[in-house]
Amino acid sequence: MNNQAFTEKYYIDRKNTSSIKWARGKQMNCLPMWIADMDFKCNERIIEHLNDFIAYGDYGYANLPEDYYDTVIAWHRKRNDVVYKQEWFRTSKGAVDAMYQVIHALTKENDPIMINTPLYPPFKDTILKTKRKVVESKLIDTDGYFTFDYADIKKKFKEKKVKMLMLCSPHNPVGRVWKKGELEELFALCKKYKVLVCSDEVHSDIIMPDQTFYPALSFKEYQDLIISIIAASKSFSLAVFSHSHIVIANEKLRNRFISYQQLQHTGGINAFNALPTYYAYKYGEEWMDALNNVVFENYHYIREHLGKYLNMTSLEGSYLLFLDLGAYNDQESASKCLIENCHILTNPGEDFSKRYNNWVRVNLATSLDNIKKAVKAITKYIRSTK
Ligand SMILES: Cc1ncc(COP(=O)(O)O)c(C=O)c1O
Repeated sequence: MNNQAFTEKYYIDRKNTSSIKWARGKQMNCLPMWIADMDFKCNERIIEHLNDFIAYGDYGYANLPEDYYDTVIAWHRKRNDVVYKQEWFRTSKGAVDAMYQVIHALTKENDPIMINTPLYPPFKDTILKTKRKVVESKLIDTDGYFTFDYADIKKKFKEKKVKMLMLCSPHNPVGRVWKKGELEELFALCKKYKVLVCSDEVHSDIIMPDQTFYPALSFKEYQDLIISIIAASKSFSLAVFSHSHIVIANEKLRNRFISYQQLQHTGGINAFNALPTYYAYKYGEEWMDALNNVVFENYHYIREHLGKYLNMTSLEGSYLLFLDLGAYNDQESASKCLIENCHILTNPGEDFSKRYNNWVRVNLATSLDNIKKAVKAITKYIRSTK
């Protein structure tokens, strides 16, 4: 399916739905390009099956479909060459909920936990709210291409006695799909300094054509250190169902995690919330490939038209672009500058790290028409500043 056909079929007008993204846009009189959800419907097979479930009316306690885990495992095996086992899986009500649970279950109060910034804010919030200590290691920015600072990571692992690394892979907001060698070097340090890795991989289905995504659990040598968080919610636009997986290969670690869940009376299966994930992985491959092409085209359009004026990340994965408006920002925050001058609502860079107040995060999971509107408004503003 070409991009135009995909957009015609799946673009959804969310102006008058309960969409948080569009309600805020309306309130601010802006085109909403913030928050990480998309303006496309999930594929029609998911909708048909949900309609059937609802119409049939059996809303009693329910099991998961018999081949639920086989389906999830097959998706990740086919797309990312990783072999998960059914017994490794636990569930949670979303990826941020999973982060809370992992930190609570597998670390102690005051334990130092590392994050690589700039980073999606709930990582830091979760560490603080669970009364652990944030250890920040800044990513190195080379003209919008962000990499780990291994010397800094090593120093902090050693000196601060870090217990867990909260990894974002692919990374929100810098759009990196970490290379195999980068992850190997990182995990080798984690192993040496006995640091557990919690790898949030919720963006792993949106991978640009020239990139390969390496799930943390595909590194057999380091499996014992790793807790992965995976979900179909971002990639198939299923956030309203609040369903994600926590995958732990290490049996001892998993048992500690299960004990925690049992104590909290959480982690039970909600079969209704899990159904869209099941149908997405069962029937969503063509849709997902088409969506990836749309995101790639949107990214290229922005790079082609704004690249001569602005520094931006090289998008490798996710549908989130991090854009540097430093040269044109007339406010304390670039997001404010875009609201006032262009009527575009983005996520402020400073939410991802204070030092990125000249940057904004832009959501590309929308129609090319919306992208064109945004590019036109930004170009007009940039030209007006000369
Ligand atoms: C890396 C990452 N993790 C987690 C989330 C939130 O996931 P959930 O809504 O399942 O808690 C997001 C949302 O943007 C995200 O980008």
